[in-house]
Amino acid sequence: MRLCIVLSKVIGRRWEYASRLILMKKIMKTNRRQFLNRSLGVVGTVALAPMVSAIGPGFEQKLLEVNSLSPNELATDEEFWQFIRQAFTISPNLINLNNGGVSPQPKVVQDKVTHYQSVSNEGPAHYMWAVLGEEREPMRRKLAATAGCSADNIAILRNTTEALDQIIFGFPLEKGDEVVLCKYDYPNVINAWKQREMRDGIVLKWMDLPMPVENDDFIVKAYTDQFTLRTKLVNITQVINWTGQILPVKKIAQAAHSRNIEVMVDGAHAFAHLVFNIPDLDCDYFGTSLHKWLFAPFGTGLLYVKADKISKIWPLMAAPDPKSPDIRKFENIGTRSFAVELAISTAIDFYNMIGPARKEQRLRYLKNYWVDGIKSHPKVKLNISQKPQYSCGLGNFGIEGKKPEEIQSYLMTKYKILTTPIVWEKVSGIRVTPSVYTTIAELDLFIRAIREFAG
Ligand SMILES: Cc1ncc(COP(=O)(O)O)c(C=O)c1O
Repeated sequence: MRLCIVLSKVIGRRWEYASRLILMKKIMKTNRRQFLNRSLGVVGTVALAPMVSAIGPGFEQKLLEVNSLSPNELATDEEFWQFIRQAFTISPNLINLNNGGVSPQPKVVQDKVTHYQSVSNEGPAHYMWAVLGEEREPMRRKLAATAGCSADNIAILRNTTEALDQIIFGFPLEKGDEVVLCKYDYPNVINAWKQREMRDGIVLKWMDLPMPVENDDFIVKAYTDQFTLRTKLVNITQVINWTGQILPVKKIAQAAHSRNIEVMVDGAHAFAHLVFNIPDLDCDYFGTSLHKWLFAPFGTGLLYVKADKISKIWPLMAAPDPKSPDIRKFENIGTRSFAVELAISTAIDFYNMIGPARKEQRLRYLKNYWVDGIKSHPKVKLNISQKPQYSCGLGNFGIEGKKPEEIQSYLMTKYKILTTPIVWEKVSGIRVTPSVYTTIAELDLFIRAIREFAG
């Protein structure tokens, strides 16, 4: 009997100890996760733990370690960014310095596309349209939170071209009405406006800029000088793709609105690269691609339209009620892959895991690093501003006596370094866009190659 009592006491104590241990472990795990999520600035119930552990052993610990660092301090922590590199499936034999055109996706995003694709293929009319279709609204809300606006202002489309064409072709304009644009705007956007000019007899007014340019008043005046009583809309590229020049969108928008002129922003290179909320730009319309800086699947983009402007824009592809104030009327683009759309959500998780400010600072740091490495060479000419207000992670330079294609070809042939030759208006040079996975060793090689080629 005594033995039974002793035994039951021991077992009871052990059991108590074991359950306390389990409880403590649970609490520690929850706290760690909460701490992790808090430290990552994660909103709502997004569980990032699987994403963090997918990067590799030690990353979770590293995340906790760097939690107290400012984005600027973290920008130089190569160990952290080496972990981030592990999240990608990039070729080890190519140094990709053209991430501005289109970005590779982290493995978690690729896996999510594959997963949704498999689910869809179980019976697309049911699993893709009905089952996965239900997830589009939560995803829209998450994207809207990233953009700093309401989900009712966001249409999910395939790219910037499609998003901005909705406005270019849907904005009511009469013969003789004027639209102001810049010679450095993107060709697809320019061509769409030119087509409208040809078809509808609208008038395009072109403004020019020196490149680089470092004076807000000068830039705003260059736009306002083109405004007349017939101007209905101004087209602004937030980050000019040729050089990475940042324009003071809000100031131009305010000048336009004070004259009753509406504002459309091409944010292809700004979104998830620079930290901002779309409504803070004070624009009426905004389009971007998500396969660039958000690292979302290829063929993803968004259109933002200010609430009171939605009903006046004719959708590019007809909707049941084209005058509807519902932003979803712009999504009548027929059947497309919901797998690709829904995986935008995972790209947002990845973006939040790094942290928007941290990402921006790292991209800026990488740009400054290679610029500092080549700018003292007498033959190198920078085509960019070095002031943070007017430049970002995307840069451009030329070499005296060398054509951009020659530089690009030398880098590719000898070193397998991928860059983009640019010849547009007054810009002649090589565009360089490193990404979060770019290493300092890669940039050192790039710097050496440029110095060698410049002679
Ligand atoms: C400024 C700008 N606008 C629009 C686009 C078009 O983007 P997409 O091809 O994703 O439609 C680009 C592409 O590089 C761009 O740089």
